Amino acid sequence: MEGELLEGRRILLIIAGGIAAYKSLELIRRLRERGAAVRCVMTEAARQFVTPLSVSSLSEDKVYGDLWSLTDESEMGHIRLSREADLLVVAPATADLIARMAMGLADDLAATTLLASDKPVLIAPAMNAMMWAHPATQANLATLAARGVMRVGPGSGDLACGEVGFGRMAEPADILAAIVRALAPDRRLAGRRALVTSGPTREPIDPVRYLSNHSSGKQGHAIAAALAALGAETVLVSGPTQEPTPAGVRLVAVETARQMLEASEAALPVDVAVMAAAVSDWRVDTAAGQKLKKDGKGPPSLRLVENPDILASIAGRHNDRPLLVIGFAAETENVVANARAKRKRKGCDWILANDVSPGTGTFGGDRNTIHMVDGDLVEDWPVMSKIEVAARLADRIAEVLQSGNLAPHR
Ligand code: PMT
Repeated sequence: MEGELLEGRRILLIIAGGIAAYKSLELIRRLRERGAAVRCVMTEAARQFVTPLSVSSLSEDKVYGDLWSLTDESEMGHIRLSREADLLVVAPATADLIARMAMGLADDLAATTLLASDKPVLIAPAMNAMMWAHPATQANLATLAARGVMRVGPGSGDLACGEVGFGRMAEPADILAAIVRALAPDRRLAGRRALVTSGPTREPIDPVRYLSNHSSGKQGHAIAAALAALGAETVLVSGPTQEPTPAGVRLVAVETARQMLEASEAALPVDVAVMAAAVSDWRVDTAAGQKLKKDGKGPPSLRLVENPDILASIAGRHNDRPLLVIGFAAETENVVANARAKRKRKGCDWILANDVSPGTGTFGGDRNTIHMVDGDLVEDWPVMSKIEVAARLADRIAEVLQSGNLAPHR
């Protein structure tokens, strides 16, 4: 499928100067394997990280880099570089190149080619976490998104600089999948509406303390991105996370389970609801109005009461129940058996079970292993990135909504 879509397609890969440039070598290899023609432009800084010889050997083409090279300009001017491509991919897209793109600078071959291009552009940002979070970078990204520049990643985790946070370039497999989507935009969910919940909830104990969990929002946000990429009008109701809001998605930021329920109900009617949030099952009955103090009488007792079940509420709606209601099951034992029981109890159509035991890295990590429970059927998905899980789920949702083959599991 990927191979068919990439056979004979022409990718202009612009490699900027970041340590993630080494992953671009793998990207070139994968693109070539699938029959794409890859022509590369390297910035001056990129040449400090990977050699033009490696890039040229893998792409089996000359590597371009010098705006002022008479031979390059006569053989292949910067205008032709982009005209003769189906898609421009910038990987890694450094904070510097993103800023130059946003400003419309043309101070080297990479920036000039991008400015002179009339082709779709996909960027795979890679940088230090502080650079990523900087308002200047975020404003530049918003400018590029408004111009239709597509983006894949970044992810979070250990960075080459030794810090931890956002800025790690998407993996070559994820960039490849984004390239396929960019070249053959799949709009199977155009005209459909989707609701996704994501992240943790926070239940206040007092004005400064709360009950919560380790959900990062990576899985839920990736699902919202994948549904929006297929054309669905997507509302993402999310608890507090560090995840950037995916392009084309409307974010409703909430804190507590009750707020999440209210925002989810307000988003109805939708065709599909995917509840990936890790909702706190309980809240403190009455949160203290002032910070609780040590009073010498020992720790306070917290009386917990049950929170509303958002998934069960949405699945139980009468007049405006979504056509497809999908839950997640976060389990630490008897993963599939518990998920089956949970699906029945909550009345949803599918449930995606994942093991969240310590050591699996499911909470907060970039990968997930899903067991999809659909009625009596259980499908074991291989370990995948959360972006791949989201793409696969979105594909299944599109397939089922298109076929109208909605089994009455309620
Ligand atoms: O955010 P990440 O770090 O990427 O991690 C992803 C994830 C592990 C959080 C995600 O893949 C996941 O499993 N989400 C569901 C977490 C959870 O709360 O599971 P649960 O088994 O307790 O709940 C089952 C389902 O009911 C879930 O769809 C949940 O959203 C929903 N629920 C639970 C309680 C409640 N009061 N209301 C609900 O709607």
